[in-house]
Amino acid sequence: MLNRGLFSSASSEWETPQKFFETLDVEFGFTLDVCARPENAKCPRYFSPEEDGLRQEWAPEVCWMNPPYGREIGKWIQKAYEEAQKGATVVCLLPSRTDTAWWHEYVMRAAEVRFIRGRLRFGGAENGAPFPSCVVVFRPGYSGLPVVKSMAAR
Ligand SMILES: C[S@@+](CC[C@H](N)C(=O)[O-])C[C@H]1O[C@@H](n2cnc3c(N)ncnc32)[C@H](O)[C@@H]1O
Repeated sequence: MLNRGLFSSASSEWETPQKFFETLDVEFGFTLDVCARPENAKCPRYFSPEEDGLRQEWAPEVCWMNPPYGREIGKWIQKAYEEAQKGATVVCLLPSRTDTAWWHEYVMRAAEVRFIRGRLRFGGAENGAPFPSCVVVFRPGYSGLPVVKSMAAR
């Protein structure tokens, strides 16, 4: 049973549900998890907090990004956009915070936004998340308006 504190809204440890990740992994074939710890990494190759994924090069990898959800989240989405301009594919699991600066500045220039119908159950949680989520896809060199889709939570 995971500690309740891990699921506060300020937590950086909202672990992606494994099956949800695997479905996307079949589609994209991820080669790098850009932010993870050894115990929650989704790919054999990942950047830890000590290595600091924000200071690393991501291109030309096919990247999975479920970022820390704290105040730094905007920096991660900016990085995802910038690395895609350099040749990375970056698939992000994000809270659907459509009123934020990062949403308008970067998500609105992604190739796809897939809004999740229902709520995800993050890493072992008994209940659905207290916020809506979406998958945002940044593709190499793309900087137009996103195609918007609906997807299931599982
Ligand atoms: C929301 S969790 C996602 C974990 C996992 N990648 C997944 O998809 O379930 C975000 C992870 O990023 C890690 N993290 C925080 N700051 C980081 C940094 N600067 N560089 C790399 N990882 C970082 C956190 O420790 C946490 O494990």
